[in-house]
Formats: sequence, structure tokens, C-alpha cells
Amino acid sequence: MKLCMIGTGYVGLVSGVCFADLGNEVICVDKDKLKINKLKKSIIPIYEPGLDELVKKNFKAGRLKFSTDLAESVQKSNIIFICVGTPTKKNRYEADLSQVYSAAKEISKNIKSFKIIINKSTVPVTTGDNVEKIISKKVKHNLFSVVSNPEFLREGEAIRDFIYPDRVVIGTKNKKSNKILKNLYLPLISKGAKYINTSRRAAELIKYASNAFLATKITYINELANLCEKLKINVEDVSIGIGTDKRIGGRFLRAGPAYGGSCFPKDTRALIDTANKSKTSLSLIKTVVDSNDKRSNLLLKRITTILKNKIKNKKITFLGVTFKANTDDMRESSSLKMIPFLNKKGAKIRYYDPTGKKSEFDKFKNVEFKNNIKDACELSDLIILHTEWNEFKLIDLKKIVKKKNFIIYDLRNIYSSEKMKKNNIKYFGIGK
Ligand code: UGA
Repeated sequence: MKLCMIGTGYVGLVSGVCFADLGNEVICVDKDKLKINKLKKSIIPIYEPGLDELVKKNFKAGRLKFSTDLAESVQKSNIIFICVGTPTKKNRYEADLSQVYSAAKEISKNIKSFKIIINKSTVPVTTGDNVEKIISKKVKHNLFSVVSNPEFLREGEAIRDFIYPDRVVIGTKNKKSNKILKNLYLPLISKGAKYINTSRRAAELIKYASNAFLATKITYINELANLCEKLKINVEDVSIGIGTDKRIGGRFLRAGPAYGGSCFPKDTRALIDTANKSKTSLSLIKTVVDSNDKRSNLLLKRITTILKNKIKNKKITFLGVTFKANTDDMRESSSLKMIPFLNKKGAKIRYYDPTGKKSEFDKFKNVEFKNNIKDACELSDLIILHTEWNEFKLIDLKKIVKKKNFIIYDLRNIYSSEKMKKNNIKYFGIGK
């Protein structure tokens, strides 16, 4: 099939490349000329394991093209995916849909034969209705169909999540579109993905409800971790104990820092906004957002206690600063709250991240990037393990750190308390 992806962020690029790999002809379109020129040279704008090889392979095979010409790309394609950003509006909970609507307007100018227009961007319920209204101003109803097809890709695991999804959700009551899309996704369905055809509005809500549910699960275990710390229980035992009940499930029950990224914080807020507009209270999700917003302060209080209230001049190392491992994404990372706080209290921060230096910390005096673990840790009083990259898992810190009595605060529980005790290292984890 001939596909056009509008927007070459995580969703558009990963989905476009994976669709090409399944044998479709795909054009990835973006307004950003520099980005498109780089992509044509197989220079990938984001860190996503496995993506560059897949881009190279499919570009070389001629199935994958990059373009800044939206009009031509839409005309050449049968299925058009809108994959643009839907960030939170400044100081509000509402999602900013301006990029979605402007893409819809541009698409509407270029429809001469039947096209399926798919909203893959995460959008509030009724956005599909609005996109349909925009397009119908210029195009007859029998020439297009607007469908919701949310994505469930995790950054860092996006390719695997695309190829082996638990489900494919198609929100449309249009039989012709449903048939075409089932065919498009057939290679994934035949490998076990469940195909769910539902209404467009239900598909839009499924996306938000999934992310809000996962954010709730994480917040639940994070709050239980706080309780475990008081009661001297290991929260990991509790996660296993409850997660083995199939009704609960063990995934997304790892306690850690406040959840972050470009999705959970934004989508939980947007879901609350949708509920407010429908005069319905989603009190549970409001509590989740509130609890998560407070989590970084709670961990900072713990750090203050660990350092016996003496933060000034302490050398503190962060291992990993992105919102999670296997991504270079800093959006809503808890390190963005923690590092400035500790820096303001007079700590000298060093950090190492496998994806390199982060401009977010450039403005802070005494926050320094080191390009290897050893340089970042050797003079440390306190090492904060912030993300769980594999390369952090087997470090011999006793060998690397020159300071006596250094402390480890493991926010992802990747180290064993027993081993640390055996090695005489002062160790703190989450919920234990
Ligand atoms: C999330 C969803 O998992 C995807 O299904 C969805 O498609 C995506 O948002 C999106 O809406 O685009 P992502 O934000 O990339 O994916 O990352 P996750 O792996 O879900 O992690 C989100 C946050 O939760 C991170 O801060 C992570 O550290 C935290 N987390 C996750 C935990 O603290 N504990 C866990 O057990 C799992």
C-alpha cells in the first residue's frame, strides 16, 4: 500500500519505517527541511535502538522516502497518517491540537481520489470529528474517511512494540476503511496481535485510558514503596506478590522516580481536561497526577536525610538523566527537578548519560557532564542511579570511586542490597 506519514517524530518515523519494512511504499513528510535532508542521508534525529539500520535498509530498497512536499506526498498515497505533536498548552491541562488541524487543512487541499486519513497522534475524544469537519469543507464525503488508530509504542522499545503489538485499535465505522486497514495490519495480526475495530471516539479514549491506567499502576507501586520504606518491606517482593495475579499483571509495577516522558504526564493531564469539559470528575487520575508531581520532592527529601542535611559542597553524581533508559528524551524527566534543586542547595553535580550531554543543564554552575562512568563517579559522595541502562548494572563502584564512605541511592533498584552490604557500601534503594 502507499502510505504517507505526516510528522517524523518518534511515532511517525518509527511507524513509517516499520510499515516500509512490511513491504509498503512509505513517504515520511516533515516541514523541517534540515531533518528531512538528514534523514535522506540516514542520519536519525532521535535515539531509538535499531531504527537507523531499518531506515538505511528500507531507504536503500526504495520503499521509504522522505519529503517536505506534503501536497505531492498526499496525492501519491492512499493512506495518510497524521503523526504530529499534541503537547500540553502552556500552563493548562488541555492538549494543543493546532498541528493536527493544520495538517488536516493541508491534506484537504490535496484529495482527488479516495484517501483514508488516520489520526495516529494522541488526540482528545472528538478530534477525529473535527478533522472530518475540516476536510469536508473542501472534499466530498465519499472521497475520504477519518479513522483513529492510536499507537502504543514505548520509546526505546518502539520497533519491537510496533512489530509485536498486543493489539491494533482501529476506530472507524466505515467498512471500506476497516477492510483496507485490517489488510495493512495483517502481518502483525497473523503474528498474534488482536485486531479491535471500534468507534472513532472509543479508539481516541482507549489511547488516553491506557496511558492513564499505566501511570496509575506506577503511581500505586510508588506510593506502596513509600509505605514499604517505613515498614521495612521490600517493594519488589510486593510487586511480584501482586503482579503474579493475572488480573493485576506484573508489568509497570516497578517503583522508581516520578514517571516522566512525552506521554504519561501530558496524556493524564489531557484526559482530566476532557473529563472536565464533559463535566465528569476523574478523581483517580487527578490524584495520580498530583502524587506524581510531588514525587520528586519526596525523593529529594530522602536525599537530604541520606546526606544528613549537609548538601552544600557534596559531590553528587547522576547516572542517567533522561526520563528512562534507552532513550535520549529529557521531556518531563525527574532529573530536571532533582538536579537544579540539589545544585541550588550547593551540591556539585556531575552526570553521565549514555546519550550524551544535555543542554537543559548548561545554565547551571557546578553541573558538569562527564563522558564516562569513571570520571563521573570517582570523586562522588553520593551516586544517584537515575535510569537503568545496562551499562550501569555491573559497574564495580568500589573500584571506581575514590571517596571512602560513598553512598549509592538506586532509584531503579538495579543493585542488590545484600551485595552492597557485603561490600561495605552504604546503599539505599526505592521502597526497601
Ligand atoms: C508510554 C506507553 O508505555 C506507550 O504504550 C505509549 O505508546 C507511549 O507512552 C505514548 O503514548 O506514546 P513511553 O512514555 O515511551 O511509553 O515510556 P514507558 O516505558 O511507558 O515509561 C514511562 C515512564 O514510566 C518512565 O518515566 C518510566 O521510567 C516509568 N515507569 C515505567 C516506571 O517508573 N515503572 C514501570 O514499571 C514502568
